[in-house]
Amino acid sequence: MSQTTVSEPGVARSSTAKKESLTVIDNRTGKTYELPITHGTTRAMDLRQIRVSADDFGLMSYDPAFMNTASCTSRITYIDGDRGILRYRGYPIDQLAESSNYLETAYLILNGELPTKPRYDKWVWDVTHHTMVHENVKDLMMGFRYDAHPMGMLLSTVGALSTFYPEAKEVHDPLVREKQIQRLIAKIPTLAAFAYRHSKGMPYVYPDNDLSFCGNFLNMMFKATELRYHVNPVLERAFDVLFILHADHEQNCSTSAMRGVGSSYVDPYSAAAAAIGALYGPLHGGANEQVLRMLAEIGSKDKVPAFVKEVKESGGEVKLMGFGHRVYKNYDPRAKVIKQMADKVFEVTGRNPLLDIALELERIALSDDYFVKRKLYPNVDFYSGLIYQAMGFPVDMFPVLFAIGRMSGWLAQWQEMVEDKEQKIARPRQVYLGADERPYVPLIQRS
Ligand code: CMC
Repeated sequence: MSQTTVSEPGVARSSTAKKESLTVIDNRTGKTYELPITHGTTRAMDLRQIRVSADDFGLMSYDPAFMNTASCTSRITYIDGDRGILRYRGYPIDQLAESSNYLETAYLILNGELPTKPRYDKWVWDVTHHTMVHENVKDLMMGFRYDAHPMGMLLSTVGALSTFYPEAKEVHDPLVREKQIQRLIAKIPTLAAFAYRHSKGMPYVYPDNDLSFCGNFLNMMFKATELRYHVNPVLERAFDVLFILHADHEQNCSTSAMRGVGSSYVDPYSAAAAAIGALYGPLHGGANEQVLRMLAEIGSKDKVPAFVKEVKESGGEVKLMGFGHRVYKNYDPRAKVIKQMADKVFEVTGRNPLLDIALELERIALSDDYFVKRKLYPNVDFYSGLIYQAMGFPVDMFPVLFAIGRMSGWLAQWQEMVEDKEQKIARPRQVYLGADERPYVPLIQRS
């Protein structure tokens, strides 16, 4: 607990000097407490001293869904949701999307600095030489039903990797951590591509070390009978940008899962499996899949006004998928980059016919009072699915693609958590509102 001061009832505290603290009067007891403010936060543990009697547990803060609770300090990603700013380690997202590639950005996120040329080369070599998976992983994947969702397959196989690398338990050993980080970043595209090939009933394609991170992924996804699959450089670059945009987003649902599960000091494969599970949900990484389903359901541009009306009148039940964000109350900067990139991709793949519906939805929503008042803007998922679909990815694969990019962020946040001396096993409190103690009633006596 940090330094706090308490005054007895009636003791006035008069000071005009500006202080970084909060004065709280407990009207139940008349006591006054002065709680320090650090980095714009007060510590929830400082509330514990506020009690009505010696046997009172003490005051807690109640914050379902962590609407206003910082659970950690971090030096990785900065977001200003009101101004639409996103930076990794201080670098603006649009500059990274313009000039960096995914592996360089992953290095930055994980290590705090852009790599020098020798460090970059070593990092690329290390990742490239960890893309293979054990043959038994392939057998494990063969066991899934033909129509298994690739995200379910990814989740299970990432978790299963912990059994192949038992040393990963040594989470306090930086060298062991470094190796698992290389493995996870390198292997997730392989597992993602295997999951896709499984659903198609096609043979799995092994990694090719002559290709770039994104080129290798496209090769493992789409190579058919040709001796050498031609990686289209526009699509290869588009993936670099998409993975950069998805690489980290501070304490979102899946990252909180990674940190929360990782805080028990389980191995990172198990923690990453939990993060993939969180990402799978339709309110998180599953949203891009839902956007495409929504656009297909709307069917044509002229039906957009009726759909928007339905959303508004549903009382929150029907949502405009790909719109809104807990943090961004302005245009999501990632959506801006993706929208600009879409045209380049469509020049290669042909225009996605659903784009017109999406543009019309955006146009109407951005001028409609319902959305304007609630500050609902397109988020990263609104346009990414259109690009993925135009490239030939089935909708089931969209959250999987999100997971490939986000793996670097999850691992950076996990590493930061493990090294943070202030962190302990995550264990939120609850406010119990259930039944008081009562005696057990045997089954036969229950009416
Ligand atoms: N369509 C229609 N209304 C919406 C939407 C939407 N997409 N999003 C929020 N609202 C309304 C909501 O009903 C509420 O209205 P009211 O004040 O009348 O009750 C108000 O806006 C505030 O919404 P909220 O649910 O309190 O906001 P939240 O911060 O809890 O939820 C969200 C954020 C992203 C879960 C939500 O906006 C949403 O469900 N969006 C659609 C799903 C989506 O696109 N998710 C991807 C997020 S970005 C990628 C990622 O990082 O995962």
